[in-house]
Amino acid sequence: MDAAPDAVPACADDGTWLACIECGETFAPFEDVRYTCDHCDGLLEVRYAELPTFDDFGTGASTDGPDRGVWRYREALPFDLGVTLPEGDTPLHRVPRIEDIVGVDGLRIKHEGMNPSGSFKDRGMTVGVRVAQELDVGALACASTGNTSAALATYGGRAGMPTLVLLPQGKVAAGKIAQASLHGARILEVDGNFDDCLDIVQELAARGAVYLLNSLNPFRLEGQKTIGFEILEQCYADYGRFPDRIVLPVGNAGNTSAIYKGFRELVQSGALDVDEVPKLTGVQAEGAAPMVEAVTEGNDEISRWEHVETRATAIRIGNPVNAPKALPGVHNTGGTAVAVSDNEITAAQAHLATEGVGVEPASAASLAGLKKLRRQGRVDDDELVVCLTTGHLLKDPEAAYKAGGDPEPVPNDADAIHEQISE
Ligand code: F0G
Repeated sequence: MDAAPDAVPACADDGTWLACIECGETFAPFEDVRYTCDHCDGLLEVRYAELPTFDDFGTGASTDGPDRGVWRYREALPFDLGVTLPEGDTPLHRVPRIEDIVGVDGLRIKHEGMNPSGSFKDRGMTVGVRVAQELDVGALACASTGNTSAALATYGGRAGMPTLVLLPQGKVAAGKIAQASLHGARILEVDGNFDDCLDIVQELAARGAVYLLNSLNPFRLEGQKTIGFEILEQCYADYGRFPDRIVLPVGNAGNTSAIYKGFRELVQSGALDVDEVPKLTGVQAEGAAPMVEAVTEGNDEISRWEHVETRATAIRIGNPVNAPKALPGVHNTGGTAVAVSDNEITAAQAHLATEGVGVEPASAASLAGLKKLRRQGRVDDDELVVCLTTGHLLKDPEAAYKAGGDPEPVPNDADAIHEQISE
């Protein structure tokens, strides 16, 4: 984690380049469109000649720009500003009653559902769409369990670029399709699961038909790493220390990879000590848990699950494509991974709602996972923990409605209603 930064290769553009995480090959960042290594097909990562410290963020930065949100962290990003609505600067909610029940020193909920399109994907898209402009591509595309498509449609629309989204038929929550539709994406419903959609859109991107904005695109993860920066700054402001652990839902493992990369960069710049890096703890649904399987069995690779099922449709994923970046993140921070049942997810969703925090099912997996790890004695009671909630309640109205109480029919009459509520 504290390895010295790489030497700047000749292909770097203004101190930014791409490097393969497998073979180390480097590439110019904005000359050609590429998503993986030309030589070994390994995942690519964005690298920088200069890595910022906390003092470089916001108004402390040498360049003018926003003091809040994703672009506050422009010194850690490939551009100073992108297509913005704006995104980031999400709340770190206190949840004292849940904190008591879970039994940890501190528990905070980082509610990424408060982003413009209602999920953390906006952080990735503000950067990814800016890069698409730089590369001068035509159409933007993604495969999605819903939120990526909503964010792509939103940011692509704002940039005036055509967007194409591939969704697994019948497995995407209503609010997300509504967003993609209204923001003007062309929506293709595939008779297959998310992993099939991703295979296809990668093929379309390889043929040059579209620019891929799934989290395989390394620039998207640059935007998402700002979640980690915000958590560190917010916790430090409130507690005078960084959190011991971050618990997050895992689908493609993009966030896990992104947050880990951000922390590594802070360690390399000297802003953060290795032992201050929070333990990255991933949570999956039992019916879609290849990453948990790999962590539990100590494997350094993931075996794709062909059949996946969970009520948390956002993380109904059997082939987490970012696993080669995310598994070292879990391992090197001393984190872990755990699977939770759909009923545990729904219970956690309802529990968060009692504190006024409205999230979609996949988001509640983080709290469900933390509760399970506490029961199993794998998280200590003296920890300061942040649970990431990734998407807003209104994304999946059907799930929210099922997790909550039923409306009662009443007559159009005050006396009758008074009697009914007095019972
Ligand atoms: N939570 C929500 C609400 C999501 O939408 C996703 C991923 C995740 C968690 C998992 O995040 O992939 O970074 O591990 N949704 C993608 C989509 C796959 O298409 O919207 P990850």
